[in-house]
Amino acid sequence: MPEVSGAVREALGSVVGTAGIFTDPADLEPHLVDERGAFHGVSPVLLKPASTDEVAAAVRICAEAGVGIVPQGGRTGLCGGTVPVTPGGEVLVSLERLRRIRDLDAQGFTMTCEAGCVLRTLQEAAERAGRLFPLSLAAEGSCTIGGNLATNAGGINVLRYGMARNLTLGLEVILPDGSIWDDLGALRKDNRGYDLKQMFIGAEGTLGIITAATMELFPRPRDVDTAFLAVADPAAALQLFAVAREVAGDMIVAFELNDRQALDMVFRHMDGVRDPFPERHRWYVLLELTAGVDGHARAAGEQILAEALERGLVLDGVRAESLAQRTGLWRLRETVTEAQKHEGRSLKHDISVPVTEVPRFIAEATEAIRAHWPGYRVLAFGHVGDGNIHFNVFGPPGDDGEQLFAEGEAIEDVVFAIADRMRGSFSAEHGIGQLKRRALRQYAPAGSLAMMQALKRTLDPQGIMNPGKVV
Ligand code: FAD
Ligand code: MLT
Ligand code: ZN
Repeated sequence: MPEVSGAVREALGSVVGTAGIFTDPADLEPHLVDERGAFHGVSPVLLKPASTDEVAAAVRICAEAGVGIVPQGGRTGLCGGTVPVTPGGEVLVSLERLRRIRDLDAQGFTMTCEAGCVLRTLQEAAERAGRLFPLSLAAEGSCTIGGNLATNAGGINVLRYGMARNLTLGLEVILPDGSIWDDLGALRKDNRGYDLKQMFIGAEGTLGIITAATMELFPRPRDVDTAFLAVADPAAALQLFAVAREVAGDMIVAFELNDRQALDMVFRHMDGVRDPFPERHRWYVLLELTAGVDGHARAAGEQILAEALERGLVLDGVRAESLAQRTGLWRLRETVTEAQKHEGRSLKHDISVPVTEVPRFIAEATEAIRAHWPGYRVLAFGHVGDGNIHFNVFGPPGDDGEQLFAEGEAIEDVVFAIADRMRGSFSAEHGIGQLKRRALRQYAPAGSLAMMQALKRTLDPQGIMNPGKVV
């Protein structure tokens, strides 16, 4: 991949103007490292185009010169997808100035927004219109809808509303030759051949740059019931999940698992948190129900708790009586990632297995780590209702990450092989980026990688879109 020449920089500058081009190392620095500080890259230029046309013109210049392009959103991704890999650098294209909501159709339950819109601003815009945009994750204050789509983000409400791709009705994408593919639209039904937008969702910027999207909105729930429940183990959590489904069906929006170690880290490192229970427990579930009829979610919550207590599935439980209490309970789950960062370096494994296999996965993987790496700590938490466990490993006491990372591939192989045996995935929602490419080669279903590479070659024959990521 050629270096970004002075002539290319000049041409790019003439497209985006002085407000849209940055070459000062101090401006570039935060864009050259990932969220977790695990990857560092180099680049001589950062662009912040202000419109779809500017993005398209910039991509055309890069395509003519054959130089690499790295799209960037909120830079909260956990797999190093925003960090350039070419030694001479690639052109960084931040979408942060494309942050207009082009249309919000409350009656049609749709919203068309530009890629740089921060997720929380979209949730708030929907709320002002009396609607719900249900995509929700702990990084929602800084991640962007473009990044959410590029990574096919999941988060805490997948059980009820699906992942980012399930919420998408249309896309506008700049293709690797700089042409604009406009497939925006609010159609629920459209069978004009292949569903091409799905190629770009989850492609992590390797097939094109998403500049806008039409997203689906939902009715705002009128009743919410949030409970934090102590359970003996993941098997009890799964039995509780079955009871909750029998009672509440589709009212369940979230069913999250926390282990005590995760909670201890939250108490050690975060402010404004407190243990809702007088006694320590080993495992916890956060259950949230919503309904369109006043009182329905609360009534279902009461019944679930009563049945679960009677069957001995729940050891203790609290239900939020106010918005402040609800926020407090969610904080115990949503700050786990940040607390972990304060705790030290860790290996993150974003596993999914069929829901019924979750207890066996956690038990086998924990036992395997204990057996091979005594003294290493394991943390298991996540979106258990959809089979997605964040199974993270910390090194032995006193290790600053050196020992842990020296064993990184061996640990990954043990954890991924267990998930693979259960027909699980080594990447449930965080994607591949540059972190999981080795795993993709090893654990993608036979034939998948070849098809992905063929698609990449067809759409991006020069390989300029986010080089060194995914395939
Ligand atoms: P970035 O990090 O900027 O980019 C991610 C990838 O997408 C990169 O490869 C980039 O090149 C590409 N990209 C960005 N914008 C575009 C675009 N417009 N067009 C094409 N490609 C683009 N993820 C989950 O799925 N579920 C969670 O529950 C979750 N929780 C998180 C909690 C915390 C505290 C943190 C820090 C992260 C969490 N994440 C989670 C990961 C991350 O927030 C998501 O992957 C998010 O969707 C990334 O959005 P972003 O705008 O930050 O994208
Ligand atoms: C979460 O569910 O909190 C995230 O996906 C982030 C993480 O794995 O740390
Ligand atoms: Zn998650």
